Amino acid sequence: MTKTTPTVLVTRRLPSAVLDQLAQSCAVDLHAGTDDLPHDALCARVHGKDGLICMFNDRIDASVMDAGDSLRVIATVAVGFDNIDVEAATARGIVVTNTPDILTGATAELTWALILSVTRRVGEADRAVRSGAWAGWTFDFMLGSELRGKQLGIVGAGRIGRAVGAVASAFGMRTVFAAKPGVTGNAPSDEEVVSLDELLLTSDVVSLHLPLNPSTRHLINRRTLARMKRSACLINTSRGPVVDEEALAWALDERLIAGAGLDVFEDEPHVHPSLLTRENVCLTPHIGSATRETRGAMAGLAVRNVVDVLGGRGALTPVNG
Ligand code: DGY
Repeated sequence: MTKTTPTVLVTRRLPSAVLDQLAQSCAVDLHAGTDDLPHDALCARVHGKDGLICMFNDRIDASVMDAGDSLRVIATVAVGFDNIDVEAATARGIVVTNTPDILTGATAELTWALILSVTRRVGEADRAVRSGAWAGWTFDFMLGSELRGKQLGIVGAGRIGRAVGAVASAFGMRTVFAAKPGVTGNAPSDEEVVSLDELLLTSDVVSLHLPLNPSTRHLINRRTLARMKRSACLINTSRGPVVDEEALAWALDERLIAGAGLDVFEDEPHVHPSLLTRENVCLTPHIGSATRETRGAMAGLAVRNVVDVLGGRGALTPVNG
């Protein structure tokens, strides 16, 4: 490497083929541990770096950017970028990039896995078999509810919401999208768009596909949960704080809704204790995009963005210009 070789901090281990690609044009400082890089350590290690490849759970605020006063690009290996102070980055001339599109299919698949797990009680059934609680086939054991003829309500009609909706007709479901101003993307067609209130009142499955921002934080709260059908379930594969977990625990206690499927949580990896003990709640550990294919592609795109920006070319998927 020559003196002018740019340096890049990578906060988590990425596939070696992708790191090799980065190493062809950059000096790489990799945090190889499986633990999070604490904020102080992140600030110390970002000093003198030209690029930063981070994850959705690294808090990249102005203090990181001040510590990394040579930074020219911050690439998150995620579609969501609520962990990055984009305004502060823009003010410092730092390009911020994300990894849209490539995780749409994987996240939509996990959404359906949760919908089916909750409505057909898959987690509960698995636990019954393993624990020996299954005493043999009986006619009315573990009855679930069927999707055919039911309504799927999608809150957030961006890429992932629409990909989830595209599968619904295969299950015989009707789909509606919420038309909350500032929350949805372009809904697929006008007749499928209803108000958030109507969606909550009429849907059998409510699935959240929203970015986290001040207008979506705790969008699902006591008031909105109380609007849902008692037989309905709530699915969240977007960001944990879109749901007020305390309110969700209350709604489940009060039997205001029938169940929930959650891949994301307000304070990961911590989960509201009352959700942990409920059979009608299916919990997965933020694995929406966790397929070998998708995670490899996400890492590859983040590296490409960094290499392009540091090489004087435009980023492929910038979020700030
Ligand atoms: C994302 O991409 O925003 C996911 O939550 C992390 O994989």
